[in-house]
Amino acid sequence: MIRSIFLGCGAYLPATCVTNEALIAQKGIDSTSAWIERRTGIKERHFAAPDEKTSDMATQAAKNALAHAGLSIDAIDLIILATTTPDDVMPSTAARVQANLNMTRGFAFDIQAVCSGFVYALTVADNFIRTGQAHHALVIGADKFSKLLDWEDRSTCLLFGDGAGAVVLGAKEEKGITADQGILLTALHSDGRHYDLLKTDERGLVRMNGSEVFRHAVTNLSEVVDEALEVTGLKPEDIDWLVPHQANQRIIDGTGKKLALPKERIVTTIARHANTSAASIPLALAEAVHDGRIQRGQLILFDAMGAGFTWGLAVARW
Ligand code: UT7
Repeated sequence: MIRSIFLGCGAYLPATCVTNEALIAQKGIDSTSAWIERRTGIKERHFAAPDEKTSDMATQAAKNALAHAGLSIDAIDLIILATTTPDDVMPSTAARVQANLNMTRGFAFDIQAVCSGFVYALTVADNFIRTGQAHHALVIGADKFSKLLDWEDRSTCLLFGDGAGAVVLGAKEEKGITADQGILLTALHSDGRHYDLLKTDERGLVRMNGSEVFRHAVTNLSEVVDEALEVTGLKPEDIDWLVPHQANQRIIDGTGKKLALPKERIVTTIARHANTSAASIPLALAEAVHDGRIQRGQLILFDAMGAGFTWGLAVARW
């Protein structure tokens, strides 16, 4: 059967890095660095420059992923960009990235699943590849969440950062669940009844009922991990790496505990990146692949939960 295999990955973080202390002082936020670090694990985040767009960050991450894969843009026939912060309402930001990369064939489109965006985009790309409609896909998660923040709302404004990450997928004839390489399983869920718990308001700024989102995240992620283990017949000890969405260290620790994974087997970037929405998973993946932690043949579980609610996971052999 045809499987989607990972050919490369890349990341991009904007140059400006702001610590909790600096942000609290700069914006006059009624909070402390200790509170935000204790409740979330966040110490600092990167912010894009005012004229730096989501498409600029996405393009850089895509170029880095292509270089890592050793492929030119001519090989790519599909771009899927997960973002909540498109450059414009229309056309898609993926179209801008396609043009930036000088790609004149194939097709490109955006996906909106907020913090679950990368897992959604990976799933969609995997389906295109397995049905033969695409052979090489760029899957990008990119967000400039800073443009959605209300600096008067201390319960959200310290949680997010900006960035982008990308992977290159290719089609390969492989075995089933015992495949040596590639995406083995994806599982997506949504429940729109919770629309109002995490959304933008009439001014386009983030509003969140944090404790309710937290409660659902822990439950939903636990259930989807159970589902994945049941469907694949894998055991928690088969998983080499957890590369989770980075919203809160305590949510990540919960999934790690469920999989009985030691801390060294969980890729966490939240302290340095904060929550970069659709970018968080490919940013974490690129970091752990490029520093040599994740090795070819190892089994990775990616999981994410976001507004909508949306949630899901992917199990893949790197
Ligand atoms: O990626 C998309 C999904 N997003 C998430 O998964 C985020 C999930 N939620 C969370 O990570 C947590 O709910 C937060 C980190 C956002 C908040 O932590 P919490 O432990 O759930 O706090 P809380 O919202 O229940 O607030 C507890 C207290 C409140 O004070 P009172 O009402 O108990 O007196 C807040 O006013 O903490 C207060 N508070 C703060 N205090 C200092 C809220 N924000 C701050 C702050 N600094 N920045």
